[in-house]
Amino acid sequence: MSARASGTATAPPEPAGRRPEAGARIELSGVTKRFMTPAGTAFTALQDVSFEVEPGQFCAVVGPTGCGKSTTLTMVSGLDRPSAGTVRTGGRPVDGIAPGTGFMFQSEALLPWKTVLGNVALGPLLRGAGRRDAEDRARDWLRRVGLSGFEDHHPHQLSGGMRKRASLAAALINEPSILLMDEPFGALDVQTKAIMSNELLGLWEQTRPSVLFITHDLEEAIALADRVVVMTVGPGTVKAVYDIDLPRPRGAVQEIRFEPRFLEIHQEIWESLRDEVSRAYARTGSASTGTESDR
Ligand SMILES: Nc1ncnc2c1ncn2[C@@H]1O[C@H](COP(=O)(O)OP(=O)(O)O)[C@@H](O)[C@H]1O
Ligand SMILES: [Mg+2]
Repeated sequence: MSARASGTATAPPEPAGRRPEAGARIELSGVTKRFMTPAGTAFTALQDVSFEVEPGQFCAVVGPTGCGKSTTLTMVSGLDRPSAGTVRTGGRPVDGIAPGTGFMFQSEALLPWKTVLGNVALGPLLRGAGRRDAEDRARDWLRRVGLSGFEDHHPHQLSGGMRKRASLAAALINEPSILLMDEPFGALDVQTKAIMSNELLGLWEQTRPSVLFITHDLEEAIALADRVVVMTVGPGTVKAVYDIDLPRPRGAVQEIRFEPRFLEIHQEIWESLRDEVSRAYARTGSASTGTESDR
């Protein structure tokens, strides 16, 4: 078996014995996004982007800085609309922020004036749960992410990794059918990032939302994902889609990256990504429409 490259993504057969999928399918079809520049001209950030995330699948999107990864995620989130093309989640066109969608970004999304418990309980409270019930569920999720004993702390009293755990609990407590993650561990040191990646995989195995995970780190993408979408330098479009045949559960991400199959897959995808990274880098040398944006 080999990692499969194709322009159009088709579902690989699911291995037998998996529990029923909780996630919703994500489909982008011909998605183009143009922004108006301050000069009044249109800037094309995404051009004809099409790919699918199967229900319960973990899909990573990689590409150079500024290629439109975050814009792609925004289109799926419903926070903004495509200029052309369609996005569907669970078979329905995305029209505003869909219930059942969880988010996790590089920047912290915790409210600094609330305790860790208060932050995690907020989601259920906003959805109409009673305080007692919301706090019980928050305690349970804090235990699952290894934060028991820190319920009464405020975010600033936690390490960066612990804040990520709290953010993960806050995202998962609502049992999302889709989890959108934009470089969520990008600001962490290498060891903490590896630990968080392992935790994320463990929790995802239990709840199986469909995940769209944005990263510029190819190793991270392969270690975590079932499917890796490579985007071209901007205007971003899909260059190739690879289905990753590394078995699950994956085990420690620190170790899987030394396995022969991992290295093969890495080399194959890097061949594709390298040109885009070089082109993006070349552009930074000249005055262009490029951007410093990495968010
Ligand atoms: N709201 C916006 N208005 C104008 N241009 C934008 C906006 N959002 C993103 N862009 C531009 O679109 C391109 C893609 O950005 P982005 O999706 O953030 O890239 P990535 O996440 O891959 O680094 C960049 O050139 C960026 O400057
Ligand atoms: Mg980004």
